Amino acid sequence: MGLMYRIFIRPTLVFQDSEKAHLRSVKMLRFLSNNRMTKFFLSTIYKPNKKLSISLFGSNFIHPFGLAAGMDKKGEAINGWESIGLSFAEIGGVTMLEQLGNPKPRMFRSSKHKALVNRMGFNNPGSEKMQHSLEKHYNKFGKPGIPIWINLGKSKLTDNSDAHIDYSTTLERLWDYGDVFVINVSSPNTPNLRDLQDEEELRKIIMACMNVNNTQAKNRKLEPKRILVKIAPDMTLEQLEQIVNVAVETGCSGIVATNTTISRPSELSNDAALQEQGGLSGKPVKEQSTEFIKHIYKFTNGSLPIIGVGGIMSADDAWEKIIAGASLIQAYSGFVFHGPGLTKDVVRGLNRKLKQHNLSKIEDAIGLMHKESD
Ligand SMILES: Cc1cc2nc3c(=O)[nH]c(=O)nc-3n(C[C@H](O)[C@H](O)[C@H](O)COP(=O)(O)O)c2cc1C
Repeated sequence: MGLMYRIFIRPTLVFQDSEKAHLRSVKMLRFLSNNRMTKFFLSTIYKPNKKLSISLFGSNFIHPFGLAAGMDKKGEAINGWESIGLSFAEIGGVTMLEQLGNPKPRMFRSSKHKALVNRMGFNNPGSEKMQHSLEKHYNKFGKPGIPIWINLGKSKLTDNSDAHIDYSTTLERLWDYGDVFVINVSSPNTPNLRDLQDEEELRKIIMACMNVNNTQAKNRKLEPKRILVKIAPDMTLEQLEQIVNVAVETGCSGIVATNTTISRPSELSNDAALQEQGGLSGKPVKEQSTEFIKHIYKFTNGSLPIIGVGGIMSADDAWEKIIAGASLIQAYSGFVFHGPGLTKDVVRGLNRKLKQHNLSKIEDAIGLMHKESD
């Protein structure tokens, strides 16, 4: 963890409202990374000097560690994520319509348990405004140096029966600006959103997105973009397998596992912040997410790329997800508790792990635990 962050910034978080502290950090990163001098300064401090290249989804990733959805809902700090060394950034969730989200306070932090609870409710500028701001950003700065993924949510006002229109309209408007699109049917803070994980509902949404994807690609004489599905950790293994089957049948390129959990482990019962209503993230969701990664890997014989997210706070956590079957990994809460230095720590630690296991590249570690137990 960065010493500066540990000494000067983390202690002050205790006195700040979680959401305000978060918004300030993203704005600061935007400010610093939109200026050449300060961007260079950030890169010097935070960019890992080791490489762990991996090719996936038609992109080259300098290492497997990226930013999870929700941190940069408006795509404000696109230059920033690259400058602090992340290999890709998922922006959004974006919904077709602009939304304020749920009433505040709606984000709660427990430093003791390295956990957050949020019930943001997809606060975001909506697909039209997002299209304009991304167009402006790309015109000014050019195409970002790292792959940009866009997380697609559903507007609260849109009925579940019209969800396919909501998701596919956002995809159409933002198609030019994302390398990968993630269909998020797993946020717990939009009423009934998780019902869209149901087989038929999900198929309808993916098919609508695939149609838009193919049309946009054809019109521009480009390859279609990769489409992934992001799932919740709160379901049975049978439901999980159903979703994976639908994803494979409809041509999705992978699964993002997982979103936040609505469950509350009993050992957290004394922590008032974590008893708030909403989705729990950070350390307490780590095991649940890793179990799902393991299961998906086994169920698909490692044939479907998995993006592992949930409770990554260190290189050990990242390694656990990779050997369970994740090809790429992401974090949100880890950056809140460990600051931007987390990326360097994770990449350095993963390099050490490869050496310890006599492996030459990160691809060889994906799903390693299944191979070792054969
Ligand atoms: C405040 C907050 C907002 C989030 N917003 C989104 C979102 O818009 N879309 C999404 O798919 N996931 C969202 N997430 C979930 C994260 O992307 C991630 O899946 C989850 O937090 C588990 O990872 P972590 O333990 O590293 O935080 C959000 C998480 C938090 C804490």
